[in-house]
Amino acid sequence: MADDRQTEIRGAFDAAAADFTALGRHLWEPIGTTAVAVADPKPGERVLDACCGTGASAIPAARLVGTTGHVDAVDVSGPMIDELRRLSAGLPQLHAHQADVTTWPGEGYDLVQSALGIFFFPDMTVGTDHLISRVRPGGRAVFTIWRGGSMAAAGRHLGLAVAEVTNTPVPAPRPPHLIDRINQEDPYAAWLGERGLVDVEVTTNEMTLTMTPEVAWLVIVGSGFRGALTKVPADLVEAVRDRYLASLRDEGVAELDATTLIGSGHRVA
Ligand SMILES: C[S@@+](CC[C@H](N)C(=O)[O-])C[C@H]1O[C@@H](n2cnc3c(N)ncnc32)[C@H](O)[C@@H]1O
Repeated sequence: MADDRQTEIRGAFDAAAADFTALGRHLWEPIGTTAVAVADPKPGERVLDACCGTGASAIPAARLVGTTGHVDAVDVSGPMIDELRRLSAGLPQLHAHQADVTTWPGEGYDLVQSALGIFFFPDMTVGTDHLISRVRPGGRAVFTIWRGGSMAAAGRHLGLAVAEVTNTPVPAPRPPHLIDRINQEDPYAAWLGERGLVDVEVTTNEMTLTMTPEVAWLVIVGSGFRGALTKVPADLVEAVRDRYLASLRDEGVAELDATTLIGSGHRVA
């Protein structure tokens, strides 16, 4: 079951790679840039960017560490890595790798960061502990997650649209997940502390996305939501798009909450 879920996640991001870049300007890049400002990579530092996607946080980190530094950017999706290689030509310090980062062997990093990735791990706690074990003693870990409720409206309206157009039941809510318990500042800080990090801080990055029809559809096809379209016959996708946009309009959804929590801490020296 866990393997099926991982295959589904990977398939969704493989298919989303080109649209992911298009959505990046509106969503991934502002989130990644703010996360990197908190992580504050210094010239010459070694960084691991886990679940790098097309580089929203890996590319700004590579610019900051400069050519004397080194960034290993790791994503399980080949198309994401291909897109990152294209976007990061000219940054020789950025090394893009297609791999499952929960078993990544590199270690001794000054900084390990991951933007909007750790909740995809088959076991979020075990995977995050592995990432923290890659930090050198005294180095820092910075993990960004969605705040509770972020992006939810898009998923709900998509689910309704798919059900209506394909004449299938509205999808059941997904099973409870650790992220549902820790997606607010205090529980997130407590969970990071339980991971052995010290000097833990959680920064809230308030953000809303203006849902023009173009952006509202990119939110679906350029993110993990794309997975919900895999079971929709190709000739019905346009009808799903139209129904989804109408559903947002009918409910007056002009903005989408895209707030994130940036959790940071140090590994004990
Ligand atoms: C929402 S995207 C975020 C990408 C990027 N960090 C950003 O902020 O734009 C999540 C990414 O996590 C990747 N991912 C999920 N599980 C992974 C794993 N076990 N190892 C490496 N990458 C993973 C997906 O392929 C996807 O590119």
